[in-house]
Amino acid sequence: QTIYLKDYRAPVFLVDHVDMRFELFESGARVHSVLSMRRNPDSDSADKSLELDGDSLTRLESVSLDGNPLEQDAYEDSIDKLVIHQVPDRFELGVVTWIEPQNNTRLEGLYKSSGMFCTQCEAEGFRCITYFPDRPDVMARFRTRIEADKTLFPILLSNGNDVEKGDLEDGRHFVTWEDPFPKPCYLFALVAGDLVEKRDSFNTMSGRDIDLRMYVEPRNSEKCDHAMESLKRAMRWDEEVYGREYDLDIFMIVAVDDFNMGAMENKGLNIFNSSCVLASQETATDLAFQRIESIVAHEYFHNWSGNRVTCRDWFQLSLKEGFTVFRDSQFSADMGSPTVKRIEDATMLRTAQFAEDSGPMAHPVRPESYMEITNFYTLTIYEKGCEVVRMIRTLLGADMFRKGSDLYFERHDGQAVTTDDFVRAMEDATGRDLSQFRLWYEQAGTPELTVRDQYDEAAGIYRLTIDQAIPDTPGQTNKKPQHIPFAVGLLGAEGESLPLKLAVDDVEAPVDRVLELTETSHTFEFHGLSERPTPSLLRDFSAPVRVFYPWTREQLTFLMSHDPDGFNRWDAGQRLAVDVISSLLGAGSEAVDPGLIKAYRALLADSSLDQALVAKMLQLPSEAYLIELAEKPNVPAIHKARERVLEHMARALRDELLACYHRNTIAGSYEVTPESVARRSLRNTALAWLLHIDDEEGRALATSQFADADNMTDRLGALRALVNSGYEQEREQALTSFYERWKSDPQVVEQWFSVQSGSSRTGGLRKIHELMEHPTFDWKNPNKIRSVIGVFAGQNLPAFHEEEGSGYRFLAEQVRRLDDSNPQIAARLVSPLTRWRKFAPVHGDQMRMALESIRDKSGLSRDVYEVVHKSLAGQ
Ligand code: ARG
Ligand code: ZN
Repeated sequence: QTIYLKDYRAPVFLVDHVDMRFELFESGARVHSVLSMRRNPDSDSADKSLELDGDSLTRLESVSLDGNPLEQDAYEDSIDKLVIHQVPDRFELGVVTWIEPQNNTRLEGLYKSSGMFCTQCEAEGFRCITYFPDRPDVMARFRTRIEADKTLFPILLSNGNDVEKGDLEDGRHFVTWEDPFPKPCYLFALVAGDLVEKRDSFNTMSGRDIDLRMYVEPRNSEKCDHAMESLKRAMRWDEEVYGREYDLDIFMIVAVDDFNMGAMENKGLNIFNSSCVLASQETATDLAFQRIESIVAHEYFHNWSGNRVTCRDWFQLSLKEGFTVFRDSQFSADMGSPTVKRIEDATMLRTAQFAEDSGPMAHPVRPESYMEITNFYTLTIYEKGCEVVRMIRTLLGADMFRKGSDLYFERHDGQAVTTDDFVRAMEDATGRDLSQFRLWYEQAGTPELTVRDQYDEAAGIYRLTIDQAIPDTPGQTNKKPQHIPFAVGLLGAEGESLPLKLAVDDVEAPVDRVLELTETSHTFEFHGLSERPTPSLLRDFSAPVRVFYPWTREQLTFLMSHDPDGFNRWDAGQRLAVDVISSLLGAGSEAVDPGLIKAYRALLADSSLDQALVAKMLQLPSEAYLIELAEKPNVPAIHKARERVLEHMARALRDELLACYHRNTIAGSYEVTPESVARRSLRNTALAWLLHIDDEEGRALATSQFADADNMTDRLGALRALVNSGYEQEREQALTSFYERWKSDPQVVEQWFSVQSGSSRTGGLRKIHELMEHPTFDWKNPNKIRSVIGVFAGQNLPAFHEEEGSGYRFLAEQVRRLDDSNPQIAARLVSPLTRWRKFAPVHGDQMRMALESIRDKSGLSRDVYEVVHKSLAGQ
């Protein structure tokens, strides 16, 4: 059942137009479709038969060709296909299916979420609605009529413009929508429900007025403002930075509670997971506000990078996702602090994507094969794909990159294309040769750069030698060297930037120079240096690679306070902390390096520093990152060592933390500006550290902050600090009162779950079971599953990796249980187990056994099958 990129063939038949009619009932839905089809002139197949995809369709009610009902022997329908034996070169195919959205727990295709009908068609959900050539290179214009009960479903939505509406018999009504832009069926959407509408408008750069509408359940009507404002900012930004204007007259956003992913960019009708769009000061944290802004922008940006120009096949998924993530990351950087945004992206990449890229599911940004495409909505496709686009921009420069993107959009508007077409547009617009660069799309694995340096005092020459190696990954060995932009700087003893004068060209380069690595080994000679410089390597994380260099703690401390590159300043602090924590592993009583405390003391004392950066620097490297860096990680030991450093630092810096807490108390009213977000973050980190050592003054501050906060960031910050403290009574009181106050708000309850399931203090297996028994926990709701089971396995690492393996067995049991109802979510939950080979046998063997117990379940879904089998494959 493996599908290969090399087997790609153009579609034999094309669809010009689709006329749909949905009859929605409590007991199911009847879907009528009429496809205007013709033979594809670009296909070399002479096949006279027509093949359509189908999945989980309850019943095929009828098939007709050019208006004439077909006899049973003229076609063949099976579980996943409808084959019409003989079709002419041009025809109209009518298909009527009956489906049961109310029983659709997979949340793919048409389903019901808290009483409303909604759809998720990417990647292959449209085939769960009707038989159709379900592939992105078949693009059609859609006309959609929706009929439903008028009282239960007053709002009926689909893509494009509403062109007709009216009443029907039996209290029913209909609305007809027409989308003038041809699109693949994965961008089709339908919503029917009793929703409130929020309106706004946007005036485009060419002077058109766009109707902006949000649809939410009545109880959420006060949580729309932030998404709406974010949308308008994104629309303006895309005009200014990419010259992209919106194309339809209406743009709609709908929030649904049950959703497998974050959100979906359906043409003109974006559908969001409630948690990625609804926000108010009282219910959403600063982090949620920022996340919502970026996801709203992401889905909006897809209108060009994804919808107007789409993917030829699903191997090209990163064409739209990598590029769109890059666009939304630029947008977020422009809206807030670019350095902080870069730190957040690099953290995620180095922790989770690097792990994926060195595990059994490692795949290139453009994969060669897959069994189930939903398993390939990965960090590699999204985040590494984003980094690949970022590197193109770094290599070309901002202006040339814009020329390239203009050409790309112009050349391919209305087409379904490949990542190679994207790179070619960049080359053609600028004259750059990116042939070696293309390996970033083809080779999996994280490149490893080993850096050595040497200073020749007599000659005043400093040499940097950089070797690159790319580890083997499943199915790929002996990789070729890649084209890597490597940004560097050299610092003098006072922290000043030294001029970079390369021997090759003898030209004074600007202070910040991007070296281009293309060979297995490169040596760069910098001239005119009268002292040994301190190198600042891979500035701004200019490529998604690992860098090895024998930094001394003195160098790291120096960079931490002097590097003009904010990212590397932060990174030096992380490396120093990693080094200190690692040195405590195994060793019994080695003391925590006083140098670390000194460095952090300086950081806390200096209020002239960018407080957003300080807030980031104060966070110690996560356990997940420390595990990722270790060879055969001993999780409980890593946890203990990190806790020890945290405790030691909190004690040593107690007074500074208190001062930092008070200094960052904000007097005025709540606002989400980069500055106030940074201050809240700093203050809550200080609080967390104080409660980590059960400081009495900290306890008092936490309880009063918990009671008095006028926003969720501070309330949750205090709750989290209490939950992770030894103050049992305060913890239980806070948890209870928080729940009582917010129990009717699912988004807040999700956070309440996460605080507990992610805490190594409270979140043992017993707690997890207790949360799963809780009345608001719901097996049909992906957010609840993620916030309890996903957070436990992904963030509560000491509990998940508990010695006896109970965490692994627990996770396997939940995967087996979910596999029947929602295979997509089940497959995602498996992920923490897939890296069993990384761990020492005490843990690894038990993880493997847990995987085997999933493998042995009967009737395993294709989604889970692929992940489990690939993880167990090999030696
Ligand atoms: N295209 C959506 C986005 O990134 C995600 C859709 C995910 N669908 C899926 N079946 N995994 O904005
Ligand atoms: Zn996307």
